Amino acid sequence: MSQPLLEIKNLHVTIEGKPILKGISLTVNRGEVHALMGPNGSGKSTLSNVLMGHPKYTVTQGTILFQGEDYTALSTDARARAGIFLAFQYPTAIPGVSVANFVRTAMKARFGEAFEAKSFRKSFKGALEALGISENFATRYVNDGFSGGEKKRHEVLQMTLLKPRLAILDETDSGLDIDALKTVSEGINRLRGPELGILLITHYQRILDYVQPDKIHVLKEGQIVRSGGKELALELEKTGYKPYETEAAEAHAAGAKGVLG
Ligand SMILES: Nc1ncnc2c1ncn2[C@@H]1O[C@H](COP(=O)(O)OP(=O)(O)O)[C@@H](O)[C@H]1O
Ligand SMILES: [Mg+2]
Repeated sequence: MSQPLLEIKNLHVTIEGKPILKGISLTVNRGEVHALMGPNGSGKSTLSNVLMGHPKYTVTQGTILFQGEDYTALSTDARARAGIFLAFQYPTAIPGVSVANFVRTAMKARFGEAFEAKSFRKSFKGALEALGISENFATRYVNDGFSGGEKKRHEVLQMTLLKPRLAILDETDSGLDIDALKTVSEGINRLRGPELGILLITHYQRILDYVQPDKIHVLKEGQIVRSGGKELALELEKTGYKPYETEAAEAHAAGAKGVLG
């Protein structure tokens, strides 16, 4: 049995003293796609930001192991260099920095000495073509005036070129029309492989029609209240998140009881 790519153990996280994640445990192996679903405010973006090492969040308990090493307190930079990639739910605009320069800088940071500037143009062009992005994208400023679909395509473009080991996609599907959703999904499917682990965060099950997950987890109020195979998505489509509300409340109450004795 090979070592898991990502192992989250009993993760508790607070923001400004407020508990958000309340004991998340999750293991992602190389080659697997895990979908993390859940209603708004359940902690999906918090988990993705914590995995990327965002300083705003405090881990009060638990560990994040990446390829067997403790990454819980590592800097965002070190995580990115090691191949952890986060596609943001709300990508920020960086006026004055072109897409090409941005991606090239990120590739240099990721691949260091191994990065060959000469091959950049070729791989960059190839990725644009594969994702159905026009060439003038290269000189546009990052996310500046991008449509929702363009922002998400840009995230997948970065992912394609940075070749991460673990890709966390935070609602990469939200706000996409059906064509953009198909292109983005194809981009993700093209990257799937025995080395890459994907955590696909989504509010809707729609993207799971195109990207088939190996496992699905339902997050509710900072806890994973249900895990299962891809059939869980169909069930959620029918029932919504309602049935999980009591389970989460019960789990929460049990946890509180544990603390209070
Ligand atoms: N910067 C913040 N300060 C205070 N509370 C926050 C902050 N960011 C998120 N939260 C709270 O954390 C909870 C989880 O939010 P989030 O992780 O964004 O959920 P999701 O991505 O599932 O919609 C929500 O109750 C939200 O209000
Ligand atoms: Mg979110």
